[in-house]
Amino acid sequence: MRIVTSPRAMQRLARQWQRQGVRIAFVPTMGYLHQGHVSLVERARRAAGSRGKVVVSIFVNPTQFGPHEDLARYPRDLPRDRQMCRQAGADVLFLPTCDSLYGRKDAGKPANEFSTWVVEERLSRGMEGDSRPSHFRGVTTVVAMLFHLVLPDVAVFGAKDYQQAAVIRRMVRDLHFPVKITVAPTRRESDGLAMSSRNKYLTGTLRRQARALSQALKEARAAVRRSKRPLPVEPLRRQLHRLIEQQPDARVDYISFFARTTLAPVRWVRHQDHLALAVRVGKTRLIDNAPL
Ligand code: PAJ
Repeated sequence: MRIVTSPRAMQRLARQWQRQGVRIAFVPTMGYLHQGHVSLVERARRAAGSRGKVVVSIFVNPTQFGPHEDLARYPRDLPRDRQMCRQAGADVLFLPTCDSLYGRKDAGKPANEFSTWVVEERLSRGMEGDSRPSHFRGVTTVVAMLFHLVLPDVAVFGAKDYQQAAVIRRMVRDLHFPVKITVAPTRRESDGLAMSSRNKYLTGTLRRQARALSQALKEARAAVRRSKRPLPVEPLRRQLHRLIEQQPDARVDYISFFARTTLAPVRWVRHQDHLALAVRVGKTRLIDNAPL
């Protein structure tokens, strides 16, 4: 597995592969990898085929973090990440620096001379977009940048970040990126907790309390499946809210019922709708989602 740090070198390599007709599959990440990430790399490996190339990027993208979020303490473990990428079948690990992507640093933020953004204006409203203003602007901008450097035929994202995958799909469609977006299922711990780099912050009893998210999804699913008719959202939302906040350190940020493709909120839930939630457990903000 080759390590590439310079954006120019990455693009040069990708163009060379393109000229040779080599298929490129790409998995963008922020590192501190877990089995969820690994499943995306394995999916990319299959998509690329034996003659194709798999690129994994690790870049903790500052522009998608809010001013009071965990950018500075976001967990990192490059030696371990490198090992996991190699084992999962990556050909290239792309590790750009903040300066090389955004220009010289200016007090920890991208340089003032950086002034071009990619903004999706519909699906990125609501849910994560409400709770984290400018988060998706950072995501779409960096993913567009990475697509221009890696030139993938296929890019693999996780269903864990459902709204992110929908926003990226829309960006690719609207801006005619020649990239096929694949979304792979959420990998979970044995007790149901969705795997996440941020689970590292869940110390002591917080780890056990974090089960409330997947339990709420399960409960909602059961309620919707039991009912033959559409269910009104509000009582169900209150029920899940109570269930989650029974945990002493869990505070709901949002519980959102919406249509699967438009992400438009619904007032009556049917089994083809989707549920997403964000909950703070102690100081750690966790998200999860599931079809109903
Ligand atoms: P990160 O949180 O590192 O996630 C990288 C990819 O792994 C995303 O597509 C995410 O949905 C997926 N993923 C995370 N947890 C997963 C799980 N439990 N099961 C399956 N897939 C999972 O998402 C980002 O980074 C960034 O926003 C990025 C797209 C890299 C742009 O900076």
